[in-house]
Amino acid sequence: MKKTILSLLIACCTLVTTLAQTKITLNTDLAKTQISKHIYGHFAEHLGRCIYGGIYVGEGNTKIPNTAGVRNDVIQALKELKVPNLRWPGGCFADAYQWKDGIGPKANRPKMVNVWWGGVTEDNSFGTHDFLDLCERIGAEPYLAGNVGSGTVKDLSDWVSYVNHPGGSPMAEARKQNGRATPWNVKLWGVGNEAWGCGGNMTAEYYSNIYRQYATFMSDSKDAVLYKIASGASDGDYAWTETLMKNIPHKMMQAVALHHYSVLGWTVDKGPSVDFNEAQYFKIMEEAWQMDEFIKGHSTIMDKYDPQKKIDLIVDEWGGWYSVEPGTNPGFLYQQNTMRDAMIAGLTLNIFNNHADRVRGANLAQIVNVLQSVILTNEEKMLLTPTYHVMKMYNVHQDALLVPISIESPSYNFQGKELTAVSASASKDASGALNISLTNIDYSKPHEVTINLRGEDFSKMSGKILSSAKINDHNTFEQPNKVSVKDFSGAKLEKGVLKLTIPAYSVIVLNVKK
Ligand code: AHR
Repeated sequence: MKKTILSLLIACCTLVTTLAQTKITLNTDLAKTQISKHIYGHFAEHLGRCIYGGIYVGEGNTKIPNTAGVRNDVIQALKELKVPNLRWPGGCFADAYQWKDGIGPKANRPKMVNVWWGGVTEDNSFGTHDFLDLCERIGAEPYLAGNVGSGTVKDLSDWVSYVNHPGGSPMAEARKQNGRATPWNVKLWGVGNEAWGCGGNMTAEYYSNIYRQYATFMSDSKDAVLYKIASGASDGDYAWTETLMKNIPHKMMQAVALHHYSVLGWTVDKGPSVDFNEAQYFKIMEEAWQMDEFIKGHSTIMDKYDPQKKIDLIVDEWGGWYSVEPGTNPGFLYQQNTMRDAMIAGLTLNIFNNHADRVRGANLAQIVNVLQSVILTNEEKMLLTPTYHVMKMYNVHQDALLVPISIESPSYNFQGKELTAVSASASKDASGALNISLTNIDYSKPHEVTINLRGEDFSKMSGKILSSAKINDHNTFEQPNKVSVKDFSGAKLEKGVLKLTIPAYSVIVLNVKK
């Protein structure tokens, strides 16, 4: 018996001593850069069941409670999430979209084929008014992606006028006839999407000229000075960013975009969204960490042409991309969402926050039923994914001041390769409270974390944790709360140092105040 107790003690001590140490120092006195709330933006494309079924179920729907055809459960969940901006109508769809087909009496709207996503018929029943009214309902700023791939300069110029001109112009009068007297004053505009690919297969030089031409006819109005976003590079295509920064006059462009997905490879089989193995998990984490490299690379080029950082980097598509759920339309990109996705979200948001001096917006792809969604729906049922919970836990950083940190974190090792296990970011809100977010992507090891507050005098502390028994745990329509946020009281504050243990594959957000 004595021997068993002794060996248990030894095993216990070994576990304690082998807990890897993460050391973080917060430089609260250096907090000066604001983390734009727009980093927490979302993206809704006419793709699969994102708009139809996921957001819009039709005005006449008696089975699913709705307001003007938009699901009430989704409106409520998005309000609680504090969505700062919502990008629409694409994606690839944006450069095929004819906005004039989506206004006026719904019965008369022309149909089209959605060539990019499943070849399904688009009846245009969800159009400009539906989208902009939805944004008002959830308190999000609309971000409209203009068509420069197959639409004319006049089409885009008319769209700007239709939504923003106060009155007296043909477009404003048309808007009024369609039931909206006051303009929506949409400021965020994408000038095309993935111009190097589905947006027209253009070269960077050609697109720069197209940008200049289209942007010239996108007019500001009294209450809407436009913020124009150039279609950006994919991943590490630094030459694209360089050409745009060189060829587009900076006064015509407020931001350059960037897209990066965490994907096993651009093949038909992108690995399962739920039953993945550690090799697939590691590779996706590697891809997620690459966001840091790409932001640094694109920022270096932008710094060369814009040292004062007047032009923003907007990562308007990011997230995990896997094979579709078995039995679903391959063109609909419907996938489940597990604790692995929570890791992508926590890590990526930390990266964005820490680059807040250049990254001033981002859009997770996509909001409902497509890729790394925050919400999944099945007829009248709806669930919140682990990614939703992370986005909500992190929304405390929106518009707060970034607290620069230094961090030493051990690695998560797999088959001779290594990744930083614990990532973190911190901010100071208007009340002076600190919010610290931590994500441990390690597949099996908890990590001990010490956070040095450098003499700052805080006494109150609270926390939230998203954690689950298995890395592939997820919420289903039968068990919608299997993965959910819990209060976290495991952090101790002693003499200006916070100490806690973060479990493997989990996310913690701490709030400390005086
Ligand atoms: O989000 C899905 C697609 O990915 C978008 O339509 C496109 O812009 C990107 O390639």
